[in-house]
Amino acid sequence: MTDPKVQPDRAWAGIGQFDTPPDLVRAVGAVARRIALRKLPGAGRRRRFCVLDLFAGDGRLGAAACRELLASNLDPRLELVECDTRRLTDSRVNGSTRLTVANVFQWVPRAAPDLVVLNPPFMRLTKARAEILTLPWADVQATGPNLYLLGLSRALGICRWGGSVVAIAPFGWLTSALALGFRRQVSDLCSSVTIVPERSRSRFRGVHQDIAIQTFVIRSTQGDRHPGTRMFLSGRRIPLLLKTSRDSSLAGTLRIRVGTVVWNRERERLSSDSNCGVPVVYGGDISERQLSMDDERYGEKRFYGAPDGARPLKGPIILIRRVLRGGPGHWKIDACLVTDDLQFLAENHVISVVVEDDILDPEKVFRSLVEALESSIRLLAHPSLSVRAVKEAAVRMMKGSDDLVRDL
Ligand SMILES: C[S@@+](CC[C@H](N)C(=O)[O-])C[C@H]1O[C@@H](n2cnc3c(N)ncnc32)[C@H](O)[C@@H]1O
Repeated sequence: MTDPKVQPDRAWAGIGQFDTPPDLVRAVGAVARRIALRKLPGAGRRRRFCVLDLFAGDGRLGAAACRELLASNLDPRLELVECDTRRLTDSRVNGSTRLTVANVFQWVPRAAPDLVVLNPPFMRLTKARAEILTLPWADVQATGPNLYLLGLSRALGICRWGGSVVAIAPFGWLTSALALGFRRQVSDLCSSVTIVPERSRSRFRGVHQDIAIQTFVIRSTQGDRHPGTRMFLSGRRIPLLLKTSRDSSLAGTLRIRVGTVVWNRERERLSSDSNCGVPVVYGGDISERQLSMDDERYGEKRFYGAPDGARPLKGPIILIRRVLRGGPGHWKIDACLVTDDLQFLAENHVISVVVEDDILDPEKVFRSLVEALESSIRLLAHPSLSVRAVKEAAVRMMKGSDDLVRDL
């Protein structure tokens, strides 16, 4: 049954139409089943359970959830909301599926569902795009400038107290400065969030994107006083970042840069003759807490070149390999402190941190920076460290700056 009163907006035609692959659909169904059985213990008799599939496409996520619930002797009621009529094929489960053609951002539910499943569209939002889609810019600013954040936010707002939201979506919101508003909504509404990342970034055809199955458990009651949101990434407890950081206090103290050498594009600048300049340090030269420039893997491309400008890199300096080891929730960092007079160039898989202020102790800065980085990189979606992440870790570290001063 479709609701003739709600007309889809033409502006939304074709936005974010990516079908969830079957194994992910089954995984969402299995999560739905676990949630329902936990919520309704001893479900010997048939119990009604309302499932809402937002941005439904052909309704595969809602249908999978309902199949699992039926198999657990529950009585699911399913509603699908999708703006494109052509996408809504009949996916009735147990004869009680409601099909609604509507814009999720304007549609008002009749009753709050027990479970919301969704794979929201992803799209960066500018002010102009938001205007075309008739999304109030204030809402975008309050949540974050991507459609998936607005979609998740809508799902959290619609779900009943004590209910759950299961989403397939990017999880960059864990750390992105632009998603602070959404994290605050999560903190207000959720008692726990569990994020299980997909190993591959290519689960959706033509899209290169980190995604995860994310389960948001809505608090059991509304209220200002509640314990914090418990957050889990890949089975490990992680913090929910609710503060912004400013790096003005760092100005003039630490110089944090990505290495400038892209060795395979700049061969004319480099030579394999060690008399022709200073050595290039590769990301792979940094291992655990050591710099070792005799790695045989680099034998053929152990290059030397003239230092950049008037300021070659030299100790004391912290070098961090941009590519992390491990996986989401348990990333490992390779960094080292170079204290000797070695001068070198760094390639672009290396982030260098120069301690410019003599009052700071490089050893202490190194230990504290690595510690600050290790606690924040656990949240990263993908294995590449940015200068911004290092700057943010440095800001956190600098707050206790007394500890970083040289011993007199
Ligand atoms: C990523 S697809 C997911 C489809 C399906 N749920 C699945 O998992 O395969 C997103 C769907 O949302 C629909 N959509 C995009 N914007 C919408 C809006 N504002 N309101 C309702 N549906 C929307 C698209 O037409 C598309 O079918």
